Amino acid sequence: GEDHRLPRIASAIRVIPDFPKPGIMFQDITTLLLDPKAFRDTIDMFVERYRDQEITIIAGVEARGFIFGPPIALAIGAKFVPMRKPKKLPGEVISEEYSLEYGTDRMEMHVGAVQPGDRALVIDDLIATGGTLSAAIRLLERVGAEVVECACVIELPELKGRERLGGTPLFVLVKAA
Ligand code: PRP
Repeated sequence: GEDHRLPRIASAIRVIPDFPKPGIMFQDITTLLLDPKAFRDTIDMFVERYRDQEITIIAGVEARGFIFGPPIALAIGAKFVPMRKPKKLPGEVISEEYSLEYGTDRMEMHVGAVQPGDRALVIDDLIATGGTLSAAIRLLERVGAEVVECACVIELPELKGRERLGGTPLFVLVKAA
């Protein structure tokens, strides 16, 4: 059966209609952060899944992967690596483009943060089209890491983003309409 912690996690996520534009139902995790029990349960559920998988890298996607990734990394004794928007990281970077609804964006990662043989988990708050996570997977695989799985708090299954991850498994806590 379903984990007893999931209903509280799901109801702590606020949905804001028509943000950032008409027709978008924005899944707002800031209200989950205001519920310490639900926030802790969210982190615990990821930690329980990944603690015995010899994960060496938690790759967190800007911006909200920076909220969920670090507590998981600390709990399982993995490194935290930020996957950032362009021109934010000060050192040498590699980058990958990905498509948005209109146009493209780019994700960057520091060279040297991830080594061949690292076992990586990619964390973000939400998967929509899957473009963002697919760029993170490509960056990690380019430097020789094995991407064990991607994990998100929320999936929008209708957008079929899961199918864009090229065989990398996806674990989510909550499916939203
Ligand atoms: C949101 C979300 C994911 C991404 C998912 O980020 O936090 O990172 O979109 O979309 P996709 O699966 O279609 O690629 P957003 O674009 O709002 O950027 P932000 O986190 O920097 O605000």
